[in-house]
Amino acid sequence: MKETIGVIGLGNMGSIIAKKLSKDYRVIGFDIDENKLAELEKEGISCETTLEGLAQKVNRVVVSLPNGEISKSVLTTIIPSLQSDTIIIETSTILPNDILSINKVCEQHDVKFIDAAILGGLSHVAEGNAKLLVGGSTETTDAVHDILLTIGKEIIKVGDLGSGMSAKIINNGIAHNVMVLIAEACSIGVKVGIDPEMMYELLGNETAFERPVEHRYKERMLNGDFEGGMSNLNARKDSMLALELAQQMNVPLFSIQASHTVYDIAVQEGLGNLDYASVSSLWEKWCDISFDTSK
Ligand SMILES: NC(=O)c1ccc[n+]([C@@H]2O[C@H](COP(=O)([O-])OP(=O)(O)OC[C@H]3O[C@@H](n4cnc5c(N)ncnc54)[C@H](O)[C@@H]3O)[C@@H](O)[C@H]2O)c1
Repeated sequence: MKETIGVIGLGNMGSIIAKKLSKDYRVIGFDIDENKLAELEKEGISCETTLEGLAQKVNRVVVSLPNGEISKSVLTTIIPSLQSDTIIIETSTILPNDILSINKVCEQHDVKFIDAAILGGLSHVAEGNAKLLVGGSTETTDAVHDILLTIGKEIIKVGDLGSGMSAKIINNGIAHNVMVLIAEACSIGVKVGIDPEMMYELLGNETAFERPVEHRYKERMLNGDFEGGMSNLNARKDSMLALELAQQMNVPLFSIQASHTVYDIAVQEGLGNLDYASVSSLWEKWCDISFDTSK
């Protein structure tokens, strides 16, 4: 028998998810905003006006709510009324700790739970190009495999429950930091008279973004190999030049200023002659972790 899926939260993302799922499954929507229910019903998707009404009719639940507090409150209310073995898929972007506390309530009621963070925006999901970062048991993930592939084109099984949310938060942290870096770095370039189109060419250069990931992360950090290469001393000297140039041009810096301090610390910690990927060993020490998977 095909699953009946409850979609809780019919905002920008939830309404797109509900419409996509309704092509293959029976879908029942719920939102506190009655206008959202009316909009979905116009598309031929039935809705319930109470969580309890929805709980009795579904055996799968997809959640798309604004934040962790609302997810915890809504799910804590509905979980006791769900049929046992119902699977809840949390797609709202929330903290992994919220996922774990919701799961405690699930365990008390024999309900299964996974986190499936959406990597991509509304257009990615609408056009079927989003990826899902999934945390939770393989058995539960496999049981909703087809539902997940209706929402996104690729399932990336990250690890234990909550890890999908952690991965998404980290991904966005990188993207948002890189955006600030691009804005400030290109401001120096444009202020010294480089054409903004040329700055775009420079950003696409392999040494800017690709090499730190493919060479420094993959080849060096994952192997604990920091011999040769470009030293922390040279990286520190070059970021000093970037600070001086920005100062001369009156360009405020945030990201390059902060990373310069890390190279200062690396040199003070005796890492001056090692490749600059070795700044990662500072975090290995501070966090008591290891990136080296070669041992
Ligand atoms: N919009 C995006 O591009 C995007 C991308 C990836 C992930 N997300 C995540 O998806 C989630 C939803 O995002 P969105 O853009 O659709 O937000 P939204 O504000 O458009 O939708 C949230 C919906 O939840 C409803 N809601 C609020 N409290 C409720 C409750 N107690 N019970 C039932 N419904 C309730 C609101 O009425 C609203 O319709 C967020 O956690 C967001 O971070 C969004």
